Amino acid sequence: MDPPRRVEHQWTDKGYVPVYTTAVVEQPWADYTSVEHQTWATLFERQMALLPGRACEEFFAGLQRLGIDGRGIPKFADLNPVLQAATGWTLIAVEGLLPELAFFEHLANRRFPVTWWIRKPEQIDYISEPDLFHDLFGHVPLLSLPVFADYMQAYGEGGLKAARYGSEPLTELTRLYWYTVEFGLIDTPQGLRIYGSGIVSSKGESLYSLESAAPNRIGFDVKRVMRTRYRIDSYQKTYFVVDSFEQLFRATVDPDFGPIYYELKGARAWPAGEVLDGDRVLQRGSGEGWPTDGDV
Ligand SMILES: [Fe+2]
Repeated sequence: MDPPRRVEHQWTDKGYVPVYTTAVVEQPWADYTSVEHQTWATLFERQMALLPGRACEEFFAGLQRLGIDGRGIPKFADLNPVLQAATGWTLIAVEGLLPELAFFEHLANRRFPVTWWIRKPEQIDYISEPDLFHDLFGHVPLLSLPVFADYMQAYGEGGLKAARYGSEPLTELTRLYWYTVEFGLIDTPQGLRIYGSGIVSSKGESLYSLESAAPNRIGFDVKRVMRTRYRIDSYQKTYFVVDSFEQLFRATVDPDFGPIYYELKGARAWPAGEVLDGDRVLQRGSGEGWPTDGDV
C-alpha cells in the first residue's frame, strides 16, 4: 500500500488555495519523526498552560478520559475503543481537507476525520489549514461528551440534507459550524469558557476570544448565526455564546432546517462584525485591529 499523502493547501497566483482529498488511510504512527512528536508536545504543553480557567471543563474531561497527553502524537487505535465506548464515534485518518459532502457523510455516521500529518516547526503559531493537532486536540475531546457527539452527528445529517436544498443552505450551515464547533464560547457559572476547536488549538485566539476588547460577544441564535459571514484569515470579529450544549443540540433537532432555509432565502448576510438590534450583547467590540474587508 502506498504511504498516505500529505495533502496541503497550494500556493497559486490567487494565494493559498485549499486542496481536497477523500482518501481514508491508516495512521502511519511508526513513521512519525521525533521532530513531529516534539511539535505535538510543544503545542500540547503550550495550550495546557493557557487553557485552565479558559476552556470549558468538558474539554478537560474529554482529554483525560481519552488519555490524550503531551508525551507524543496519540495513536488513533488507542483512542478509538475509549471513544467508541463513550459515544460511538470513531476517528479515521485522512490526508487533508475533505470536500463538504464527504465530510458530512462521515459525521452523519459518527466518524470523525483527523488529518494524519502535523504542522512543521516553523508553522507552530499559524497554519491556514487543519492539521493533526487542530483536528485531534481541538475536536476530539468534546466528541466523548454525549450531547456534543449527538450535535455533531445531527450536523452531518443536516449537511447532507442542506446539500439537496442548494448552495445557499450549505453556506448557512457552514456558518453554523464555524461559529459553534470551530469558534464557539459557552457561558458557565464560572464565566465564559471556550469550546470551539479553532480557539482551543490556537494560542493567540485562546486569549483574544475571551479577553480582548476588540471582538463582539453575542448570545447564540441559530438564524442570526446562519446569516453571519466570517473571516478565515484573522481572529473572529464576533463570537457567539451558547448557554449550554443542550441549547446547541436543540438547534439541530430539526436537522433539515427546512423552515429556516425558506425563511432565510435571499436574505442579506450580515458582515462578521455587525451588531444588530435584537442581539443579546455580552460585549460590544471596540473593533480595534479589525481588517476592513474579506468576510467570506
Ligand atoms: Fe476544525
